Amino acid sequence: MMRRLPSPGTIEIVPSILSADFARLADEIAIVTSAGIRMIHLDVMDGHFVPNITIGPPVIAKLRKHSDLLFDTHLMISEPARYVESFAQAGANNITFHIEAADEPSQIVDRIHDLGCTAGITLNPETPVESIAKVAPLCDMVLVMTVHPGFGGQSFIDEAARKVIAIRKMVGPGIRVEVDGGIDDKTAPIVVSYGADTLVAGNAIFGKSDRRAALGAIRAACEQGHV
Ligand code: DX5
Ligand code: ZN
Repeated sequence: MMRRLPSPGTIEIVPSILSADFARLADEIAIVTSAGIRMIHLDVMDGHFVPNITIGPPVIAKLRKHSDLLFDTHLMISEPARYVESFAQAGANNITFHIEAADEPSQIVDRIHDLGCTAGITLNPETPVESIAKVAPLCDMVLVMTVHPGFGGQSFIDEAARKVIAIRKMVGPGIRVEVDGGIDDKTAPIVVSYGADTLVAGNAIFGKSDRRAALGAIRAACEQGHV
């Protein structure tokens, strides 16, 4: 089953399950789905590329049976090339990997496309924009990390977010530019003003008792555009 990223031109709020109740993941996803989202962000951590461990293909395969959302899979893992096939088979739709972890990023993008998925490249806060110059135009999405990857609930790093401006110039309007880390109703309008159109939010949604209201607040803040 093929799911493509929404065509550019819309702002998409993408809840990250990292701050959800992992014992009730399908229910948690159903709650945010009922608030009208198209994508859900799945954070994969290997305890090696980042100092934390989360989920892998078996959990994603089980979630696939419970959700029709686009699975936006963020691989915070070493040797992504070894694992992209497993994630595609598990039901990932978009597969994003880190430039810091990839020796041959263009080949990995080709492989992800051959597996029927869309591809994203991402870079850590301290990684320069130039590092993705060759691979970004081959991708369907660029993810700008606005915190150091590994944990939810960290503070937004504005210097990292400002890289969105240069990346938007680099890729033009036809590729989604996603941000991840510290996004809430205060920081969302800032990243939109920089040119981001795809906003991951973990703690700001699943850290609140009313997840639907929290999602609505981020969406409203983007629409009002106050920076
Ligand atoms: C961090 C993850 C994020 C995380 C964001 O390493 O990649 O997706 O869930 O969480 P918040 O929105 O809480 O900063
Ligand atoms: Zn993430």
